[in-house]
Amino acid sequence: MITTTNITELRKIRATLPAPVGLVPTMGYLHEGHLSLVRRASQECRSVIVSIFVNPTQFGPNEDFARYPRDIPQDLQLLEKENVDVVWTPTPEIMYPSGFQTWVSVEEITKTLEGKMRPGHFRGVTTIVSKLFNATQPNRAYFGQKDAQQALVIRQMTEDLNFPVEIVICPTIREPDGLAMSSRNVYLNPAERKAATVLWRALYTARQAYENGERNAKTLREIMLDILNKEPLAQVQYVSCADIHTLLEWEDQIQGMALLSMAVLIGKTRLIDNIVLGGTLSQ
Ligand code: PAJ
Repeated sequence: MITTTNITELRKIRATLPAPVGLVPTMGYLHEGHLSLVRRASQECRSVIVSIFVNPTQFGPNEDFARYPRDIPQDLQLLEKENVDVVWTPTPEIMYPSGFQTWVSVEEITKTLEGKMRPGHFRGVTTIVSKLFNATQPNRAYFGQKDAQQALVIRQMTEDLNFPVEIVICPTIREPDGLAMSSRNVYLNPAERKAATVLWRALYTARQAYENGERNAKTLREIMLDILNKEPLAQVQYVSCADIHTLLEWEDQIQGMALLSMAVLIGKTRLIDNIVLGGTLSQ
């Protein structure tokens, strides 16, 4: 496994890698969710590149960029055990040198859900992912359903800008009690960690209702809200039942695939989760 920060060196190494090359972009502090993407990439690709970069431009001014958890030595140790060829750990100065002024921005599907709550977030994500694609030139890139809107936005960008990259969306990996794995889970104290299972309980209960025939979007949103509102440590930012293609809310009956998603503050920690009804997003 070769580790580098330098972009010129990365390009030289990339040129020697046998295709297909798989890229797993991450912000580090790796957990089983990230590792599931790495394993999938190594099953499907002859070479695997993992990038680790806490991207400042996707964090809002009052978000957790400075305190986002970082542990590169531990990340490298975890990746050593997987079939990873190259780990790229660029610095903010490498990715955003002074004078940087070019941005990539996807329009309609970034206007709802996470995009609405976090202005500028997806512009930061699509810009950095474009730069990661350009530097590593992957044949395939792996993303988690955990961040469903992000994966859909990146798929749209890839199509619109003709990146020759296949976007692979992988299932959400959960703790045994259902909590979706996330680097941000370390922020939770023991009481909050317990309370955090409420996101999965809400999604799971709505899915059961759907499986029992419920198709009314408003009812499904209410089922989730009722459960979330019963948890004293939880403060709901949004609960959504949206068309998987447009990410606009279904008003009455769901027709086709729906993305059930939510953002919830547990104490001061902002958690997101989702499931898909009527089909799958992940392959
Ligand atoms: P990060 O939050 O580190 O996540 C990296 C990748 O791991 C994303 O594709 C995310 O969806 C996936 N992932 C996170 N938790 C997961 C889980 N429990 N199960 C499955 N996959 C999971 O997402 C980012 O970084 C950044 O926005 C990035 C794309 C790297 C751009 O900066």
